[in-house]
Amino acid sequence: MPRLVFPLGLAVAIFTALSACDTAADNGLPWHQVSHDVCWSRFQWDAGSQSDVWMLPGSACQDCHGEGGGARVFTASGTAYMPPHQADGCFGRPDLLIQITDANGVIYETTTNEAGNFWFEPAIAPIALPYRVSVFKDGVETPMRGEVMDGDCNRCHTQNGADSATGRITP
Ligand code: HEC
Ligand code: HEC
Repeated sequence: MPRLVFPLGLAVAIFTALSACDTAADNGLPWHQVSHDVCWSRFQWDAGSQSDVWMLPGSACQDCHGEGGGARVFTASGTAYMPPHQADGCFGRPDLLIQITDANGVIYETTTNEAGNFWFEPAIAPIALPYRVSVFKDGVETPMRGEVMDGDCNRCHTQNGADSATGRITP
């Protein structure tokens, strides 16, 4: 399936440019740099619901990207992090593989982008409910034990966890 992969060279150029300027106001970009304590990744989204592949990391994407939410529909979406209690807006962890095995045994995979965001589009990933999900880091699998009925991963995987989750999606 097509993956939105940000060219590494460009990422390096932007991230290098960012080290010279601290705020969205002076870099003109939809995020700014923050201390490691505020966001482990050192990057924080700064542009509300402006359309972007890095938009609103940590938020309940399906509020807008679910059926009737107004934005284009995804079947599942969310953000993966390293430390488990990062605040909304903090960029998460890139290059993690999100693997869904749906009710029919069909496997769908995508990779987290620079914001830690990931999403599945219905044309490519119709995802029959209920399903299993795992996160892979460097080939090591971290499965969610329970079955998933709700593609809004960040609804439960909030900063401090909701609906029995203990925090963010982490590898
Ligand atoms: C407050 C509503 C809202 C939330 C929450 C939200 N989005 Fe969006 N998103 C939009 C709108 C509106 C657009 C632009 C119209 C469209 O593409 O549907 C958009 C566009 C996008 C796009 C297309 C960007 C492009 O350049 O092609 C992606 C990908 C995306 N969002 C992913 C996410 C992810 C992942 C999350 C959660 C981490 C999220 N969004 C949370 C409203 C939202
Ligand atoms: C209804 C709430 C809920 C939703 C929605 C949800 N999860 Fe979870 N998730 C949990 C709970 C509770 C646990 C801990 C128990 C378990 O593993 O089943 C968990 C555990 C996990 C774990 C194991 C490691 C960890 O971070 O605790 C991963 C990985 C995970 N979820 C990923 C996802 C992904 C990806 C999605 C969206 C496709 C998702 N979850 C949707 C509640 C949810």
